[in-house]
Amino acid sequence: MEKTWWKQSVVYQIYPRSFNDSDGDGIGDINGITEKLDYLKELGIDVIWLSPVYESPNDDNGYDISDYQAIMQEFGTMEDFERMLSQAHERGIRIVMDLVVNHTSDEHRWFVESRRSKHNPFRDYYIWREGKDGKEPNNWGSCFSGPAWSYDESTHMYYLHLFSSKQPDLNWDNPEVRDKVYEMMDWWCRKGIDGFRMDVISMISKAEGLPDGPKGESQLYGDPSPHAQNGPHVHEYLQEMNRRVLSHYDLMTVGECAGVTVEEAQKYASLDGKELNMVFQFEHMGLDEGEGYKWSDRKVSLPQLKAVMSKWQTELYQKAWNSLYWCNHDQPRIVSRFGDDRPAYRELSAKMLATCLHMMQGTPYIYQGEELGMTNAPFETLEDFRDIESINAYHEFVQSGIVDASAMMRYIRYKGRDNARTPMQWDDGVNAGFSAGTPWIMVNPNYKEINAEEQLSREDSVFRYYQKLIRLRKKEEIIVSGTYELLLPDSEELYVYTRTSERHKLLVVCSFTEDAVPFALPAEFKEADAEVLISNYNRDSIDKNITLKPYEAFGLKI
Ligand code: NOJ
Repeated sequence: MEKTWWKQSVVYQIYPRSFNDSDGDGIGDINGITEKLDYLKELGIDVIWLSPVYESPNDDNGYDISDYQAIMQEFGTMEDFERMLSQAHERGIRIVMDLVVNHTSDEHRWFVESRRSKHNPFRDYYIWREGKDGKEPNNWGSCFSGPAWSYDESTHMYYLHLFSSKQPDLNWDNPEVRDKVYEMMDWWCRKGIDGFRMDVISMISKAEGLPDGPKGESQLYGDPSPHAQNGPHVHEYLQEMNRRVLSHYDLMTVGECAGVTVEEAQKYASLDGKELNMVFQFEHMGLDEGEGYKWSDRKVSLPQLKAVMSKWQTELYQKAWNSLYWCNHDQPRIVSRFGDDRPAYRELSAKMLATCLHMMQGTPYIYQGEELGMTNAPFETLEDFRDIESINAYHEFVQSGIVDASAMMRYIRYKGRDNARTPMQWDDGVNAGFSAGTPWIMVNPNYKEINAEEQLSREDSVFRYYQKLIRLRKKEEIIVSGTYELLLPDSEELYVYTRTSERHKLLVVCSFTEDAVPFALPAEFKEADAEVLISNYNRDSIDKNITLKPYEAFGLKI
């Protein structure tokens, strides 16, 4: 039997810390998620991707795991987890776990042992090197600022951490490490989970000899990415993982693959099923970067965005499978980024962006609050931020003089990951209905206007629009399987594409501007019986020559 339910599915990502707090400690938890399963059922999603819920000292909010087989106390117990899983399954919702195995926490037993002595049985679980001329073994920088190496007093050697110093990288070249990871994955599969989202999985295999990375002008350290992404053994290890674990269960797998090209993705997510089902690529998320890497407030160019999205649509077709996303817990809110979050245009542009993405081929991901059109938050000072990435980057860029303080504050306000991590806005009551206690991070004050309760009460809300898009994908096979073609590639205002199957054709038109834009329907869609599948202005027919309203979007079918 072909197990490809994930091709028809829509995934909803939950960042548990910020979703729903059931016990008033200011931190979201597992029972809080269980309480909201009916809300998710109403939205119509098929799968939950759960950001990490494992035991963790929370240096990086759970992406630093100290025990893969225990639940973080703040989030609840294993019994709570099992109840959530079975209640989700009762509602036909599957649960995909975050698998963070490029690194562990430095408080994981393996690392505690590993750092004890050079001869400890766990020594080779991590990547230890001697210093070079009293300095780090190579010039690699960490993704969270500073060098990617920390010196350890007990054995006078350095260990590698591509993220924070509390996230030491596992040594995947050690077969014992791989065995342990597969055993742990198998344990979760036997519990009945439905898949894995694999954190920075493209980084598990490092280049032989760990050579220095290229040094950009604005960088204090070398860039490890050419030597730490899509490395020499990554496909071998994933194929092994597939043989040893994944192929024994009916799972959905998605690999987070920084630096992945379409050619590489064709290997990771090949339809022959030897590795993963799909990858998260980052090309579209990198288009508004500036001189200081992601720290910029540049606006994306629409022709570039279309070129990138279209490349992935066409080049994976019938070779591999796409994941479709605008948002996750690492990205700012899309309506504040590619849309327009001013009150007059917020809902229109949120719906337009949703139309643009959800009519493409691939598995769509919705990040909590995206279905309400939640926006970036008005953080004021550095004290308002919680995220290690933003705080470290601010200090590093400002102290080194690469970016001045006021520009850097603007950049972290615009691009910081905390924008995605403010509490889910459930209603207009205390703390947006998220918690009866003091939330661990500020609540976006716009919850009075933007909240789930209000949107559920209104037929034309962003929530109801997402619900429609999800239903359409279930009803119209062409959205899952049609071929994709981009029209008007050079337009600075319109994103227009078609989807084609043997019997039908879809036209998707999205305006990325507040200006009125004239648009003539392509000849074949001028027939009177073209059906309007979706329209963010509730049109029931489209004129041959139409002037598109601000952020207008529609989908037509013949
Ligand atoms: C990617 C995750 O999405 C991000 O949140 C985390 O900080 C890094 N990987 C390190 O695990």
